[in-house]
Amino acid sequence: MKGRILITGVAGFLGSHLAEELLLRDYKVVGIDNFSTGKEKNLKKLKQSKNFTFIEADVSSNYFMALQNQLEDIDEIYHLASPASPAYYLKKPIDTIDANTLGTKNVLDLAQKNNAKVVYASTSEAYGDPLIHPQSEKYRGNVNTWGPRACYDESKRLGEVYCYLYYSLFNTKVKVARIFNTYSAGLANDDGRVISNFVNQALLNEDITVYGDGTQTRSFCYVTDTIRGLILMMEKESANGQIINIGNPKEYTILEMANLVKKLSNSKSRITFHPLPIDDPKQRKPDISKARKLLGWTPQVDVVDGLNKTITNYKNQIDSKE
Ligand SMILES: NC(=O)c1ccc[n+]([C@@H]2O[C@H](COP(=O)([O-])OP(=O)(O)OC[C@H]3O[C@@H](n4cnc5c(N)ncnc54)[C@H](O)[C@@H]3O)[C@@H](O)[C@H]2O)c1
Repeated sequence: MKGRILITGVAGFLGSHLAEELLLRDYKVVGIDNFSTGKEKNLKKLKQSKNFTFIEADVSSNYFMALQNQLEDIDEIYHLASPASPAYYLKKPIDTIDANTLGTKNVLDLAQKNNAKVVYASTSEAYGDPLIHPQSEKYRGNVNTWGPRACYDESKRLGEVYCYLYYSLFNTKVKVARIFNTYSAGLANDDGRVISNFVNQALLNEDITVYGDGTQTRSFCYVTDTIRGLILMMEKESANGQIINIGNPKEYTILEMANLVKKLSNSKSRITFHPLPIDDPKQRKPDISKARKLLGWTPQVDVVDGLNKTITNYKNQIDSKE
């Protein structure tokens, strides 16, 4: 039996996929979640494993700190707890800030006490609406503190500052993953993120809603690639004290993606255009040279293959409800 791993945000999209993979690799996993955006159904399969323990808690709360005695023999922590979809964090901005600031500090305190390693899930949103393309980790970003997205972007950036301080002051083995858009079948159909919206709308032959004129770009990474990147970050000593982009550098305009999803789903949907949300980034593409060099990581799942798997899974979900 291998070591004991804590995953915060385990009932979410990435957390549940990560837990499943680590259980397959014979680790003991303790999962924490407050169900703010996570779903009980994401835990169903995990709870079948005797190596999985779940604790309902908010990482930014005193209750989480009081649990620290129960978490004494933790070797590794993946700190994923935070709303990630704009649809959720715009509704709960203060909770989002707390999860990434107080929550990150609490997680780092726990790590320091246990001499545990930490991977912190930061985001490509740390680059804001970037003026440099593609974005390498050296780019400092173009982020607005005075707007609706700031609760997410800026709290992730402050979370990174906590990681920097614990690494430099206390030698905590912490690594920051700047994750770019990740998708797969596991995203809830009502998640509000672009791939889940497009696939759901295409399969139901509803209008596919593009915000703006669709010329803004994004890069989409299949979930198994992102999870492999996060695990490599945890494993590799060379990643300690580093910020590393995890994303697929293949860039699509949003309109290209809408047309591709429509084509792969054999959909009759129309594509409709709606006002662009405030501070929506115009382009997004990771420079992954650092991940290649330090982790030997590159994405392996082609976007068309990943989309086909996602479409099949969503179709099954829709069919099972009918
Ligand atoms: N999926 C992506 O494309 C993506 C991209 C960039 C960054 N990230 C980051 O990765 C992490 C996971 O994202 P996801 O896509 O799985 O999102 P998600 O919303 O599906 O999962 C987040 C989980 O965290 C839980 N949570 C939120 N606040 C909490 C708190 N205070 N205490 C305990 N649990 C809490 C939620 O209930 C949910 O289960 C997030 O930190 C997100 O910012 C994800």
